Amino acid sequence: MGKVVSNVKVAEQVYLLRVEGNYEGSMGQFYMLRAWGHYPLLSRPISIFNKDDESIEFLYQVVGEGTALLASLRSGDTLQLEGPFGNGFPVAEGRVALIGGGIGIAPFYYCAQQINSDIYLGFSTEAYLQDAFSKLTSSLHINVGGIVVDDVDFEQYDTIMACGPHAMMRAVQTKYFQSSRRAKVYISLENRMACGIGACLVCTVSCLDGRKKACTEGPVFEAQEVTFHD
Ligand SMILES: Cc1cc2nc3c(=O)[nH]c(=O)nc-3n(C[C@H](O)[C@H](O)[C@H](O)COP(=O)(O)OP(=O)(O)OC[C@H]3O[C@@H](n4cnc5c(N)ncnc54)[C@H](O)[C@@H]3O)c2cc1C
Ligand code: FES
Repeated sequence: MGKVVSNVKVAEQVYLLRVEGNYEGSMGQFYMLRAWGHYPLLSRPISIFNKDDESIEFLYQVVGEGTALLASLRSGDTLQLEGPFGNGFPVAEGRVALIGGGIGIAPFYYCAQQINSDIYLGFSTEAYLQDAFSKLTSSLHINVGGIVVDDVDFEQYDTIMACGPHAMMRAVQTKYFQSSRRAKVYISLENRMACGIGACLVCTVSCLDGRKKACTEGPVFEAQEVTFHD
């Protein structure tokens, strides 16, 4: 069980939860969070936003019952954290771009502390945490209401990492195929999950070499290996 240090609203329906303790985890990995008893049945996967020796942070958007219960947590409350899970992003070299869309910006705060990168953040209506991200890069690009993937010149980079809604990940893949493919491009897929440990097959992703489990073989995939069907 973890003890809540703080749970602060940073934008409409978006909260930053800080939990006490020295937790494991690398860039792009996630934890299964649970702040309730029997219902909802399943814990919820949330990416590592930040961590140090004393605490771990999660940035989350309230979209349903589980995240609404997370939002009701107060300082001193406890919650269950299991993880870290998933493969995470590789340590990248050369010129790197991080592209986050909506709550898909969450894994990149921790990444940007470890990788010298240009950061592209896209929001539908309201930008948030720009000041925090601006301290981690000299090249921060914010897009509100547009298509953040369009802001990125894929030819300029050696590595591109992206996280966001399904349609955005598909757009990243399309742009990768249209480019000279110099860059290694990674996409993090936020598929629905149940067990988080590879046991239930709820999270499978269609790939060129068969179906893969997003929770154990992902959530990060190379852009060209995923076969999007919708
Ligand atoms: C690896 C991974 C990392 C994630 N990291 C974060 C994060 O850092 N911050 C964050 O806010 N969210 C993150 N998510 C998404 C988050 O897990 C879901 O938003 C959450 O589980 C919803 O739970 P809920 O009970 O609030 O909503 P539910 O009541 O379960 O669902 C509410 C609505 O949201 C839709 N929904 C639920 N889950 C998803 C999903 N994964 N993709 C698309 N639509 C969904 C449902 O279809 C429904 O319409 C991540 C997901 C994955 C797989
Ligand atoms: S969530 Fe159960 S196998 Fe991935």
